[in-house]
Amino acid sequence: MPNAYISGSGMYVPETVIKNDDLKKIYGIDTDHEWIHKRSGIEERRFAPEGVNASDLAVPAAKQAVEDAGIEMKDLDMIIFGTLSPDAIFPGSGVYLQQKLGLCDGPNPNFVPCLDVRNQCSAFIYSLATAASMVKAGGCKNVLIVGAECHSAAMDMSTRGRQVSSLFGDAAAAVVVSQTEEDRGVRGWYLGADGRYADSLCLKGWDMRRRPYIPVGDDDCGRVTPEMMWPYMEGKLVFRNAVERMIQSLMKACSDHEITRDDIDLFLFHQANMRINQYVADQIGIPEDRLVHNLHKYGNTTAATIPLLIAEATRNGKLERGMKVAMVAFGSGFTWGSAIVDW
Ligand code: ACO
Repeated sequence: MPNAYISGSGMYVPETVIKNDDLKKIYGIDTDHEWIHKRSGIEERRFAPEGVNASDLAVPAAKQAVEDAGIEMKDLDMIIFGTLSPDAIFPGSGVYLQQKLGLCDGPNPNFVPCLDVRNQCSAFIYSLATAASMVKAGGCKNVLIVGAECHSAAMDMSTRGRQVSSLFGDAAAAVVVSQTEEDRGVRGWYLGADGRYADSLCLKGWDMRRRPYIPVGDDDCGRVTPEMMWPYMEGKLVFRNAVERMIQSLMKACSDHEITRDDIDLFLFHQANMRINQYVADQIGIPEDRLVHNLHKYGNTTAATIPLLIAEATRNGKLERGMKVAMVAFGSGFTWGSAIVDW
């Protein structure tokens, strides 16, 4: 069976930097830098301008990843798009990205399958497991995975929404998972979910039990209440479950591969909250120099956090060929996952 390795990466963050205090200055939210930084480690995040959506952010990240992998768009066999802020209810953002990358154009279009993975903060690990399975099974040689989020469009930017809006930012990052006969690549993964907490971190948007699914006023326009329109998060519950599941996922990944934390050269943790990540690192005994972070400058970019870390770490020399890497994520659902990769 061939192996599946990460052959290239790319990233894109919007230009506009929103510092913690800008949430008060620009949006009038009753918050401040000290509150946000103390509880999350976040200093600033990027917001995309009006007119831009997740698949737009994904385009430069995807192009960079494909180039970095040393392949061309025509060599892609599949696109997997992880997002919790998709362009539309349907279709998935993957097909919009395919079109924007020009894969449908010209005399030899590349009508690759496109799959959206709606697993929020765990989307990258779920996507990696899916891509590696396809590649190892021989069904694909090169799979593009993109994690892209346009959170700024769908957060309550008033004081009412501050618990969520102070944490999230916009970004896109991508990797290419390619086939190789070399002894390297994605060794395995562990995925899990607990649907009992489905409503503890969610954005409902509409109610499909209703007829029609959004109440319609006399003016023929849909009306959505703030409870339906904006994200809902039970912050403390998320925190408790995140640390528990991330520790469990990492331990399981290590035991499945008969390795210990000392065999791992670099840990890539989902970037939701520095206090979550520090707690997990302390419990497992991971030294600071084996972790990379970017939460302070981008906030929680959900499906994009781990590929963003990959794109940055491969460019600044912290992630090099031959290293053993452990990835772990936790998010809405609740869903979680970990993966072990020999770089
Ligand atoms: N600025 C100022 N005050 C705030 C803010 C803010 N941005 N947000 C909430 N508060 C207020 C609350 O209104 C509350 O006020 P009250 O006591 O008058 O009611 C007070 O601060 C305390 O609120 P708590 O929610 O109890 O604060 P807590 O200490 O739990 O911190 C936080 C909240 C940071 C969200 C924390 O629970 C947390 O980090 N949870 C994990 C969240 C997370 O990581 N989510 C994403 C992971 S999953 C994914 O990535 C999809």
